[in-house]
Amino acid sequence: MEPTCEAAERALEEASKSNPGAWVDHSRYVARACRNIALRCPHLDAGRAYALGLLHDIGRYAGISSERHLIDGYRYCAERGWAQAAQICISHAFMIQDIETSIGVFDVSAEDYQFMKNFVASAVYDDYDRLVQLCDALALPTGFCLLEKRFVDVAIRYGVHPFTVDRWKKILEIKALFERWTGTSIYSLLPGAVENSFC
Ligand SMILES: [Fe+2]
Repeated sequence: MEPTCEAAERALEEASKSNPGAWVDHSRYVARACRNIALRCPHLDAGRAYALGLLHDIGRYAGISSERHLIDGYRYCAERGWAQAAQICISHAFMIQDIETSIGVFDVSAEDYQFMKNFVASAVYDDYDRLVQLCDALALPTGFCLLEKRFVDVAIRYGVHPFTVDRWKKILEIKALFERWTGTSIYSLLPGAVENSFC
C-alpha cells in the first residue's frame, strides 16, 4: 500500500505542528520537483512521486535530530503500511549504499544503527529512490535551485566529510539519468530555479 497525495499532505501538515521548521517547506519543494520531473518520465507516476517527496523527511516530526530522522521516518511510514515511503525515508540520505558515507551524526541506539547499516546495504533502489535523492538536492526551503548551490548549503551546515565529493558525483550521475529520460534540462522543469540560484 502506498500513501495518497492527500494522506501525505495530512501527515506533513501534522508533523509541521509537532516540529515546525524550514524542513517543511523544503519537503514541499522536493515533492513538487519529484512530480514535475516524473511527469516527463513515462515509467513513473507523478502522484506517487509527489507523495514520496512530501514524506522523505517526515521523521522530523519527532523533533530536532540528525540521522535519527531517517529511522523515525522509516518507522512512521512502515507503521502505516507505506513500504516504499519507509524505504525512501532512509534511502534518500544514501545515494551511495554504504552507511559510512553519511554526513550526519548517528544519534540512534546501537541496534538502530545496525538496522540502518544492513538496510542501506541490502536495499534495492528503484527510480523513485533515485528521484527523491536528486530532488532533495534541488530544493532549498525557499524554492528550487542549482544542485551546486544546495551542495554548498549542505556543506556549510553539515561540514565537509570524506564522502562529500562522491555523494555529489552520484547526484550528478542521477541528474544525467533523468535528463536522458525527460529529454531536457531538469532545471527547465523547476519554475524559479534560475532566479533562486542567483539570489
Ligand atoms: Fe530532505
